[in-house]
Amino acid sequence: MFGARCLLRALRSCSSAPCPRHKPSARLSVRDALGARSTNGERVKVQGWIRSVRSQKEVLFLHINDGSSLESLQVVADSSFDSRELAFGSSVEVQGQLVKSPSKKQNVELKAEKIEIVGNCDTKDSGFVHIHTPIITSNDCEGAGELFQVEPSSKIKVPEENFFNVPAFLTVSGQLHLEVMSGAFTQVFTFGPTFRAENSQSRRHLAEFYMVEAEISFVESLQDLMRVMEGLFKTATMTVLSICPEDVELCHKFIAPGQKDKLEHMLKNNFLIISYTEAVEILKQASQNFTFTPEWGVDLQTEHEKYLVKHCGNIPVFVINYPLALKPFYMRDNEDGPQHTVAAVDLLVPGVGELFGGSLREERYHFLEQRLARLRLTEAYQWYLDLRRFGSVPHGGFGMGFERYLQCILGIDNIKDVIPFPRFTHSCVL
Ligand code: 4AD
Ligand code: MG
Repeated sequence: MFGARCLLRALRSCSSAPCPRHKPSARLSVRDALGARSTNGERVKVQGWIRSVRSQKEVLFLHINDGSSLESLQVVADSSFDSRELAFGSSVEVQGQLVKSPSKKQNVELKAEKIEIVGNCDTKDSGFVHIHTPIITSNDCEGAGELFQVEPSSKIKVPEENFFNVPAFLTVSGQLHLEVMSGAFTQVFTFGPTFRAENSQSRRHLAEFYMVEAEISFVESLQDLMRVMEGLFKTATMTVLSICPEDVELCHKFIAPGQKDKLEHMLKNNFLIISYTEAVEILKQASQNFTFTPEWGVDLQTEHEKYLVKHCGNIPVFVINYPLALKPFYMRDNEDGPQHTVAAVDLLVPGVGELFGGSLREERYHFLEQRLARLRLTEAYQWYLDLRRFGSVPHGGFGMGFERYLQCILGIDNIKDVIPFPRFTHSCVL
């Protein structure tokens, strides 16, 4: 999932077969190569990332994508090119002849004469350690009180006693546990069920959903974090599109016509960044009438988020620096005034609104201590304060709701349609 990091690796090249002498090749994007009209052996050069590798006794098939098209270009090479470095996610430069493909699946293919690895990608070493964070926990990470309490059923329960001695709950986020582990592993992630007792029947809320969360040490700016978020969204999406194109196609064809173009638009463009303050200004100037009047200091509603994405040309947009009063205790104080904000970031996407939520964490002991004291949480979070006493480093992270991610890439309007057994207020079937 974090293959995007591989692409940032230092350039490393290796040529694995002799290259015949010929005039310099014309550089083509994958889209242009796929649309080429003449295929009379023209020499071309294509650069991109390997989406799949199929190695046969005498031939090697690669699929290369550079983001210019949802479809990948098939590269056919002699098996002598085969090497461990030609792996999923590696970036390559392929030179060869564009020829008519004998297969019905594509019109053209690239007959490779030279393959250079530009950036090696060892997915086992993408740098993020998978942590199994607990489902039962004694903390309320988000501080919103949307907790399901865990106790034995009444027959076994001893009156006035908690099974775990303390009140325990189903987790609303693995973040605080990841923060503990990020003190040892620098880059960590978790992926698991998450529970929120939100009294909502909306098209984007569930009481039980899956969330992928990452935590990164030595991160000093929201820009660093946003790069990972955008990379995760784009790499995961390209992987889904290359591994199960038929399934995605089915949704795009029968449920959400037009979604394919919308998704391509998201993948091709750099995500945008606006501040919360700018977002409120945009909303105030909107000609649309909102059910909730936009105002500085008040949370953005789904209708606001959807408007902002439209306003940004349906390109995903990061909204940063939210009011301190709206956000949980762990977010880093920007120490700005008179509008007091924290280094928070939400990624808003077309059709859904908020898909990711993240922040820099308050790593400064005294800031955190004062914040917890004001919220009367000092005692409960002594262990969290201790993380700031012993070798604290700037760090940050984010969470992405998995079902909302599926809604976004497949174009499915209601979150209850992307999970087989949706749980929400007044409904827990089976
Ligand atoms: O914005 P949230 O609440 O952020 C956190 O939980 C942070 N502790 C994450 C972190 O920094 N490690 O939730 C993250 C994402 C949201 O952006 C949304 O996509 C999803 O989780 N989400 C829900 N999805 C479905 N149903 C709900 N009730 C959801 N609540 C949040
Ligand atoms: Mg959020």
